[in-house]
Amino acid sequence: MSEIIHSASAEETRAAGRRFASTLREGDVVALNGELGAGKTEFMRGVTEYFGCSEQLASPTFPLMNVYEGFLEGCELSLHHFDLYRLETDQELEGIGFGEYLSSAWASFVEWAERFPKYEHAYTSAVTIDYDGPERRIITVTRRDA
Ligand SMILES: Nc1ncnc2c1ncn2[C@@H]1O[C@H](COP(=O)(O)OP(=O)(O)OP(=O)(O)O)[C@@H](O)[C@H]1O
Ligand SMILES: [Mg+2]
Repeated sequence: MSEIIHSASAEETRAAGRRFASTLREGDVVALNGELGAGKTEFMRGVTEYFGCSEQLASPTFPLMNVYEGFLEGCELSLHHFDLYRLETDQELEGIGFGEYLSSAWASFVEWAERFPKYEHAYTSAVTIDYDGPERRIITVTRRDA
């Protein structure tokens, strides 16, 4: 099942991220896809706003993974945020312990997930952001389970 959201600004993309975050459950692993500058990190900023930890969001130049300590209904939870842009091979990805990091967070988020189809089975949902004009984006949210 897919949901399509039309965003007209970075703030609308963050709002979509906040709304999406409210639907997440423990163990979710989210693929964030889209071209350079599409808004994957903006969407992620909205997710971290929902979990009260947006001040921890790393700049887009962070190396591979960041851990955020967020909150849901007063309880602490950890979110793992990956950016796989600079990785080349499945071996490199395995070398950083990707699989273990995915499963040890409350929820994980992976920018450039589509570069590593080997891990496709791990994702419980996918968010794809497409350009639709300088400030316009089309955000497609697909969940594996109903
Ligand atoms: N509707 C919109 N949604 C999201 N970002 C937008 C929108 N309109 C303009 N922008 C701008 O586009 C840029 C998106 O950058 P962002 O770092 O989120 O992209 P990204 O997909 O994470 O890129 P990268 O692949 O480099 O990590 C920001 O500068 C943001 O202000
Ligand atoms: Mg980014």
